[in-house]
Amino acid sequence: MKEITINDKKFAVSIPESYILGEVKKLAERISHDLEGKNPLFLGVLNGSFMFAADLFRDITIPAQISFVKLASYEGMASTGVIKEVMGLSESVAGRCIVIVEDIIDSGRTMQRLLENLGTREPSEIHICTLLLKPDNLKVDLNVEYVALQIPNEFIVGYGLDYDGWGRNTRDIYTVVE
Ligand code: IMP
Ligand code: MG
Repeated sequence: MKEITINDKKFAVSIPESYILGEVKKLAERISHDLEGKNPLFLGVLNGSFMFAADLFRDITIPAQISFVKLASYEGMASTGVIKEVMGLSESVAGRCIVIVEDIIDSGRTMQRLLENLGTREPSEIHICTLLLKPDNLKVDLNVEYVALQIPNEFIVGYGLDYDGWGRNTRDIYTVVE
């Protein structure tokens, strides 16, 4: 089994590239079918989604646009916890059919914040698309319509996802092994 080491942790291949790409293509076909005539604007969430977004978008067969946003986290003034600000959204979202493209939904809190923010910009509809979902860890009520792969509650890297900024540049997805 292929293994890699990143900092202090060992990882082994858990989802091979061929399987990922097959599921991504199926998802793109579903989205293309469901959103036909809606000229959707895909919004990739950086950094983690860049590889998934590129593969997904190549398999979208209807007229569509893509742009990317970055979520900046900073500590609130009071004890309000971490607030995420949406950076880089230059396109007008008003009246558009939006497809948010994420790498992974874990607790769902990041996605919840993004939905709240985009909601104020008056899109006609918002759809959630994620490469990976950890269903056992979801803490908030989200309608996650488009999921390529469901995974157990374990830490993974590769195919765009990182451990401390490293490990994004693999074609397969790896799971931490102790
Ligand atoms: P959430 O807000 O708890 O849903 O967390 C989502 C974010 O946590 C993702 O965008 C990732 O940056 C990070 N994350 C969660 N699980 C993993 C993982 O297994 N590997 C790498 N990043 C993860
Ligand atoms: Mg992310």
